[in-house]
Amino acid sequence: MKRFVLIIATVALSGVLFTSCGGSGSQPKEEKQAPKEQVKQEQQVTQEDALTANLENGKAVYNKICMACHMTGVAGAAALTDKARWTEIAKKGMKTLHHDAIEGFTGENGVMPARGSCTDCSDQDLYDAVAFMLKEAGVTAE
Ligand code: HEC
Repeated sequence: MKRFVLIIATVALSGVLFTSCGGSGSQPKEEKQAPKEQVKQEQQVTQEDALTANLENGKAVYNKICMACHMTGVAGAAALTDKARWTEIAKKGMKTLHHDAIEGFTGENGVMPARGSCTDCSDQDLYDAVAFMLKEAGVTAE
């Protein structure tokens, strides 16, 4: 019985200690939350399309990944030489195309895999690649 009381006392005491630490203990918590907020904001920026295209990087990403399908139009992909088709695609706007490159896109012609199956491509890489492809196709998207 004595032991039981001791355990309760210990639990209660640690509870008190825990609470008394609460003031200073909550500070690191807030610090932890800050980066999360930043990530959220960065994602919002991506969605709002405040990105600027780096065409050099876009070319590199295209040559590494997108070219496999988009150079000649493998698997139903729009070939970069198919200006008529890219003109239609460009009408969707950069924001949609960037989104489709990230999330993947299934249309009438085939399946564009998410990120072109490039697991280490960042959203910026994909943005750059889309911008490069539009430029190569000779079209512009809003
Ligand atoms: C495995 C083949 C394949 C690869 C690799 C690929 N794509 Fe595609 N992509 C497609 C196909 C197929 C479509 C067309 C789907 C349709 O219109 O039916 C497409 C369509 C697109 C579209 C138009 C989306 C729309 O809304 O009409 C964009 C933009 C695009 N790809 C970007 C890229 C980028 C950027 C890469 C490289 C990171 C890439 N693709 C790699 C197959 C591919």
